[in-house]
Amino acid sequence: MSTHNVWTHKGTFLLAAVGSAVGLGNLWRFPYLTGENGGGAFILVYALTIFAVGIPILIAETMLGRTSRRSPIMGMRHLTKTHGTSRAWESIGWLGAASAFLILSFYSVIAGWAIHYTGQMFSGALVGADSETIGAGFDALLASPWLLTGYHTIFIIASALIVGMGIHKGIESGLRIIMPALFAILLLVLFYSIANGDIGAAATFLFTFNIADLSLEGWLQAMGQSFFTLSLGMGAIMAYGAYMSSEASLTRTAVAVAFVDTAVAMVAGLAIFALVFGAGLETGQGPGLMFVTLPLAFAEMPFGALVGGVFFILVLGAAISSSISLIEPVAAFLVERFDLTRPKAVGAVTLGAWLMGLLTVVSFNVWAEGTLFHALFGRSAFDFIELLTNIFMPLGGLLIALFAGWALTQSEVMKELRTSEGWFKTWRFLVRFVAPAAVSFVFLRTIPQVDGYLIPTLGAIVIVGAFAAGRTFLVEGSSR
Ligand code: TRP
Repeated sequence: MSTHNVWTHKGTFLLAAVGSAVGLGNLWRFPYLTGENGGGAFILVYALTIFAVGIPILIAETMLGRTSRRSPIMGMRHLTKTHGTSRAWESIGWLGAASAFLILSFYSVIAGWAIHYTGQMFSGALVGADSETIGAGFDALLASPWLLTGYHTIFIIASALIVGMGIHKGIESGLRIIMPALFAILLLVLFYSIANGDIGAAATFLFTFNIADLSLEGWLQAMGQSFFTLSLGMGAIMAYGAYMSSEASLTRTAVAVAFVDTAVAMVAGLAIFALVFGAGLETGQGPGLMFVTLPLAFAEMPFGALVGGVFFILVLGAAISSSISLIEPVAAFLVERFDLTRPKAVGAVTLGAWLMGLLTVVSFNVWAEGTLFHALFGRSAFDFIELLTNIFMPLGGLLIALFAGWALTQSEVMKELRTSEGWFKTWRFLVRFVAPAAVSFVFLRTIPQVDGYLIPTLGAIVIVGAFAAGRTFLVEGSSR
């Protein structure tokens, strides 16, 4: 059974894809990675990857969704049949569902921190506070499993409510309110930072580059980030593509998504670093940049409590418009495959991801060290889950590029892309050679991190997964 649902407007896919792409990756991860990797050089590599690798794969992934008009798993199954290719390609769908599920579990916990800081800001609790107080406050938040679980629960329920109401009443209507508000708030924060911060220093930091500042590790992180920020390789874009109007141009839409997503990251970076420099703070603070350094900057600026509160609302809105796109592919699969009602499917996905998220919660406190996880994988559960997604995401992107470029019947692909011969050839070259090469490079980066017991453990997971997938095939096959 196919979904047969289509967005209300030709442009809704763009709205939804931008909603998915713009998230914690732009507001939290991009600025701190840039800060840690010396600014401009990092941005240069990031932008190059977006254009040479991100956009071609974005087109490919959207195309897979739109031609199959099904959720990622069922869609891949359908395409392997209609194009007469190996059923092994269906693993793209399974891999995507697994990554979406894993990302959702920790994304929700981190988004929960933003709920905490929205309250801290609006209540004025941090006005005039010094760096020790603010740092201690962040540590205290992470040390409390109850507080983290509470915020995680609120965030995931809010996301579930939106997706549960369906793609039109829930996702579309939700995004029509959230997205314009986000752009308004982003501009407000930018103007505030121009007035109160040091925008010149921020621009110099972001846009002058010295390629020597960039380590190999920084290169790879920039490439990985360009993947993460476009929500590539995990079926979210495929699921939204399934509802895309056949009239909309795949190329133009993908370029627009990449452009808006990059623009948001740049504006957020400018605003955040202007505030950081203006307050005389350090740029290389890592993940604490948004939750410690930024509140500190707001603490000493005029109307800082108010603008800071509004800023964290921006973070929350961006996070929720992304988390709904993590729920959708898996929920749509349950609806199609098992005929569940949408609310039930969404409930099942979020309950599962919520439980899994508890592993991330305890990774910051009661299970911070010395657990079974540390013994087996040499790291906390949260770090392990993040590592898994860092492996799955490029792997999914690699397989999508190869599938679209080599396995699908190219005349069909050309029909779906509906574009000039010249661009089609360019796109195909990028998807066949450039993207796989670049992605393999990112992928290999994670290999040195895979150590100790991780190899046999991952091997066992793969074998069990392959077994489960094989069983599904057999059961399916015999019932046909
Ligand atoms: N792009 C999101 C961000 O920048 C994060 C993300 C990665 C994501 N993969 C995703 C969001 C898949 C939704 C779906 O924050």
